[in-house]
Amino acid sequence: MPSVLMTGANRGLGFGLMKLYAAEGWRVFACCRDPAKAKELNVVAAASGGKVTVHPLDVEQHASVDALAKALVGQPIDVLLNVAGYYGPKIVTEPGGLQAFGESDYVDWARIYKVNVMGPMKVCESFVENVAASVQKKIINISSIVGSIGTIGHGYGGNMYGYRATKAALNAITRGMAEDLKARGITVIAMHPGWVRTEMGGPSADIDAQTSVTGMKKVIDGLKPADIDAFHAYDGSTLPW
Ligand SMILES: NC(=O)c1ccc[n+]([C@@H]2O[C@H](COP(=O)([O-])OP(=O)(O)OC[C@H]3O[C@@H](n4cnc5c(N)ncnc54)[C@H](OP(=O)(O)O)[C@@H]3O)[C@@H](O)[C@H]2O)c1
Repeated sequence: MPSVLMTGANRGLGFGLMKLYAAEGWRVFACCRDPAKAKELNVVAAASGGKVTVHPLDVEQHASVDALAKALVGQPIDVLLNVAGYYGPKIVTEPGGLQAFGESDYVDWARIYKVNVMGPMKVCESFVENVAASVQKKIINISSIVGSIGTIGHGYGGNMYGYRATKAALNAITRGMAEDLKARGITVIAMHPGWVRTEMGGPSADIDAQTSVTGMKKVIDGLKPADIDAFHAYDGSTLPW
């Protein structure tokens, strides 16, 4: 039975991905900051016959990542999914949520960086041996189209400086890791989930979570080692870096 570990499994896209893998009978290590509050996730875990287990993991608290990595030593992880992310205190469509030029809050910015860049990096470094010991050997970092420099000025504008910078950084470290880990047979990619109606995406977003996670899982299922050169989107297309 293949196995998957995802961060941010309590809500949004992480929860949607968790349900897809659970429905296929995968061994799912579902991580979230506060398992006691993850009601819907706990319901899925309780009905899974032990295939879905819930683990505390806060990507800002590296000791919590280390603790889980220690508990899972020797456990193969076929797919490592860095889903947890933080946009900032206000969603993009809220007044003041655009993170416009001239309005940068550098305290928020530092926190966004910690969650979106250092968090996935730490998770990758902590669980790489688990991935290397698996059959599929895939690491997926959920990024965003706003991290794509190549789309700016080509249908996409500026703004979102704090969040944008972190996703561009995530793309850069993802591409670097892909090179460093390919000799071990590990495939590392960044993926844009679409603009999705979650708490982060808000109610005006383009697509629902089911469309996004179903598309992302299809891309992940079909992933080949040669795919590391591309920045992938949920619908099977690729984006400029
Ligand atoms: N929705 C979109 O339109 C969209 C577009 C592009 C990219 N993305 C990316 O897709 C991913 C999932 O987004 P989403 O829409 O599902 O967002 P969401 O609904 O806001 O969920 C965010 C998830 O990240 C978790 N999280 C936040 N900080 C964390 C931390 N320090 N440690 C561990 N978990 C933490 C949250 O846990 P708590 O419940 O504990 O806060 C929650 O599970 C993110 O990386 C996001 O940047 C989303």
